[in-house]
Amino acid sequence: GIALNAQASSGTNGSSARTGGLVFDTDGYTEQTTTITDANGDDHEVVYRFWKAVTYVAAPVDEKYQSLNVSVPVKIDGKSVDASGAPILFANSVGGYMPSSVADATGVGAGGTTGMPGGGTGAPSPSASASGSGEVQSGGNGMVNALGKMVSLPKLALAAGYVVVEPGARGRTLKNSEGEYYGTAPAAIVDLKAAVRYVRANKGRIPGDTDRIVSSGTSAGGALSSLLGASGDSPLYEKYLRELGAADASDAIFATGAWCPITDLEHADGAYEWNWGASVVQGTGKVVDRTVSKELVSQFAEYQASLKLRGLGGFGALTARNYDTYLLQQYMEPSATTYLKALSDADRAAYLADHTFITWKNGKARFSWADFLTHVGARKKTTPAFDAFDLSTGENNLFGTGTTGTRHFTAYSLKHDTTGNTGTRLDGDIPAKLRLMNPMPFLTGDKPNAHRTKHWWIRLGTKDSDTSHTVSANLAAAAAALGDDVSHLYYWDEGHGANTDPGDFIQWIAKVTG
Ligand code: DHB
Repeated sequence: GIALNAQASSGTNGSSARTGGLVFDTDGYTEQTTTITDANGDDHEVVYRFWKAVTYVAAPVDEKYQSLNVSVPVKIDGKSVDASGAPILFANSVGGYMPSSVADATGVGAGGTTGMPGGGTGAPSPSASASGSGEVQSGGNGMVNALGKMVSLPKLALAAGYVVVEPGARGRTLKNSEGEYYGTAPAAIVDLKAAVRYVRANKGRIPGDTDRIVSSGTSAGGALSSLLGASGDSPLYEKYLRELGAADASDAIFATGAWCPITDLEHADGAYEWNWGASVVQGTGKVVDRTVSKELVSQFAEYQASLKLRGLGGFGALTARNYDTYLLQQYMEPSATTYLKALSDADRAAYLADHTFITWKNGKARFSWADFLTHVGARKKTTPAFDAFDLSTGENNLFGTGTTGTRHFTAYSLKHDTTGNTGTRLDGDIPAKLRLMNPMPFLTGDKPNAHRTKHWWIRLGTKDSDTSHTVSANLAAAAAALGDDVSHLYYWDEGHGANTDPGDFIQWIAKVTG
């Protein structure tokens, strides 16, 4: 076969389409030794084979991003391990819908999104602060644990004996010499699918069980991970995959891990106002436009009704009227309960004394939605949170095309545009691109996708106001309604990008793939 173990190039941008076999070079690794601290704080010496910057499509647009790294454990704590049938963690490091490259990574868990912590290089996302606090977004395959330390799922997975595949993917800011954007929607999901196809097409050459691919990602990466899970084998992506010369194989995956997925973007402005509408904006202290906020809330009510979802735990139909009760009962109170139970009696008493809105009775936390919102405090984003009237968000850029860097993707924000756009209709390609970027239509309606992932791990901090809490909860409810195995919980008092139970995720992989 033809070994495609390409060196990272710095952006060929479509000018030099390559052909060739997509055959994984089994000998193209270096052996590395590293010490990995597991979720319990114990150190493990791991010897592993590391394949770097393997181009995963035959006709790459930009190999720097369209390449993946593979890590395979051969010895853990001095004992030989055989990972040939192990689950494969497929860990993307996308943050902010930005480009993410693993081409310069020197080992497992070291790739990342440009400008993101835990990996990448370069300046922070140009629009990370456009609609928010200026806080750098997540990504870079690093998340923050309960002690405020960075957690690397790829490293934890390797130390658990799993194969780790880390794909790069194009992102929204990439522009070629003609000024054309080549990483906007749906580039990132197409790339991840192509990478899955590459892994599966190389079954037996890449060690690991290609029928047990478990995806992970955080925030925009969590959105893409859930989309990858929901959309397995969908023909909607076929023409894009063919253009890239993706391997001819299934792109379905076995399980999805998604932390704070920023998804369902075309409905996220309404959901955001429903959730955080009452609060002032972080940093500025400004009250948002009440009229706009209310109009968006009514859009959410309509959308939520159209989904026809039922809450977990026998809750019944989920509506804009009862969703606060649902979030409280199903997620927020249990989350606080778990948090408080883990504290010493003295620490719990101190926390409860500081947070008198919580009633602690019979080992359970109770509080009102209004008090919960007050506790979370200022919202991170202004209104609309995603499709800004002035086209200033990262999502506006995500839906850019050609030489147009930013576009509207909701009729409402187009109508209220402040940039001089007098159009009355969204651009013709927008509806199809929204469809390609949203997991929800694959999970709801008359024809849910049979090739979707059937195992879901969804996590989110209760203080994360990067999107509405309903986004994750709807994803969980939609998957559960199809009979899928869903583990969804919220981390109490944690913000954007948190991962306080990574060890449980590693164990969950063993459980669902076992
Ligand atoms: C991310 C955060 C956001 O607030 C957003 O709108 C999109 C992506 C992120 O951290 O990846």
